[in-house]
Amino acid sequence: MRGVFVVFEGGDGTGKSTQARLLADWLNASGREAVLTHEPGEGEVGRRIRELLLDPATGDLSPRAEALLYCADRAQHVDTMIRPALERGAVVVCDRYVDSTLAYQGAGRVLDLDELEPLVWWAAGRLRPDLTVLLDLAPHAGLATIAERDRLEAADDAFHERTRDGFLDLAAREPERYLVLPAREPVTVVQEAVRHRLAPLLSGEGHDAEIGRRNLWSALFDPEAPLSVPPGTMKP
Ligand code: TMP
Repeated sequence: MRGVFVVFEGGDGTGKSTQARLLADWLNASGREAVLTHEPGEGEVGRRIRELLLDPATGDLSPRAEALLYCADRAQHVDTMIRPALERGAVVVCDRYVDSTLAYQGAGRVLDLDELEPLVWWAAGRLRPDLTVLLDLAPHAGLATIAERDRLEAADDAFHERTRDGFLDLAAREPERYLVLPAREPVTVVQEAVRHRLAPLLSGEGHDAEIGRRNLWSALFDPEAPLSVPPGTMKP
């Protein structure tokens, strides 16, 4: 039995960790094994790589070195934790994955995506998420919630803007695998939309064209615009 692989992506301070935790708790409470995990930093190897990547004392890293360290963390994470959990049928709820490297290092650090993408997928053992939830928010709004910034969070505004655009581009390219939600919506509204979108995957129905169209719409949703519909009607 193959489990379900769900990833939360987005900029810093968008509420990914809260949403991932709520989803995993709900799944576990409803009797489905859920494994909550995150990148970078799972396990002892991950912990050490994370420290190197995020400690402001590391200073400037070559963008390629930075990308490779995130890839190394992921390779270890996939092989030791994610794939074994999926193989025993669990739902893996992961806070950040491949798209973070494509958005932060690819778009943010301006690395050539044609070169980076094959490398990133090789490092991830070609394991693709079944669903990627992108929580979108203007970077200044997300970063304002962070008291002490790590090495990545401390990068300039233009970097964070490029990263945000990078995430949105990835979602627009493959709408059937993404759910893009405005992160400024209340936590419960976002969580409800995630659970609704996940339902067919949990019951093994997989993707359908209708879901693809809805997500394309949500990828194009302008999170800065005032809500034109009451939050309840936003749910897919
Ligand atoms: P976190 O705050 O979600 O734990 O992530 C740590 C930082 O690492 C965050 O600023 C995003 C960044 N990051 C990348 O730049 N590339 C990656 O591949 C991943 C997974 C995270």
